[in-house]
Amino acid sequence: MPKLVVVDHPLVQHKLALMRRKETPTAEFRQLVKEIALLLGYEICRDLPLEEVEVETPLERTTVRMLSGKKLCLVSVLRAGNGLLEGMLDLIPSARVGHIGLYRDPETLQPVEYYYKVPSDIAERQVILVDPMLATANSAVAAVHKVKASGATDIKYACLLAAPEGVEKFQAAHPDVPIFTAALDRALNDHGYIMPGLGDAGDRIYGTR
Ligand code: PRP
Ligand code: URA
Repeated sequence: MPKLVVVDHPLVQHKLALMRRKETPTAEFRQLVKEIALLLGYEICRDLPLEEVEVETPLERTTVRMLSGKKLCLVSVLRAGNGLLEGMLDLIPSARVGHIGLYRDPETLQPVEYYYKVPSDIAERQVILVDPMLATANSAVAAVHKVKASGATDIKYACLLAAPEGVEKFQAAHPDVPIFTAALDRALNDHGYIMPGLGDAGDRIYGTR
């Protein structure tokens, strides 16, 4: 079964509620995206493998556990993905970063690609793809196809809000990629916006409308 994780931690839900309010100003919205990304990242990284290593504390030698296994690569879907990226990088500062430039054509709701750059060793890394909104899922499905074409096999997808229609389409296209979201909203409206949603994520992060 494809995995859908709704991160219902009280702090996540509180921050998301503040972000949904239309009067929340740009600076506060941007700060909240960053904070929520950190909390989502914490949940996404829950199953990272650990290995035992020896360290010397100021008092004695002991065995501790540290991260092992594959290194991480965060991939941001421009431009709104960069809001989430910032918070996740605070949590995992040594992660490599890729960017996929996509915008959604307002008429067709199909993604238009304008940029693509990912680390050359992405095939050896665990990929966390970040984009705040999973609406029709056309952008997310295309973004995952791109990283798979570059060799990535171990991929997780993180967003703030998902629509049921988007989840269904995404899971049909990429059943191997778990979705982590802060909320599963009611439905899409006639323009492909998530309801009740939070509006246009890119515009709200960057104050462009
Ligand atoms: C938004 C969002 C997703 C996409 C989701 O980006 O950040 O990438 O829409 O919609 P979908 O699931 O229907 O494809 P947008 O196209 O507005 O571009 P922007 O990030 O540059 O504002
Ligand atoms: N993109 C957004 O930014 N918001 C939506 O509700 C849908 C797509």
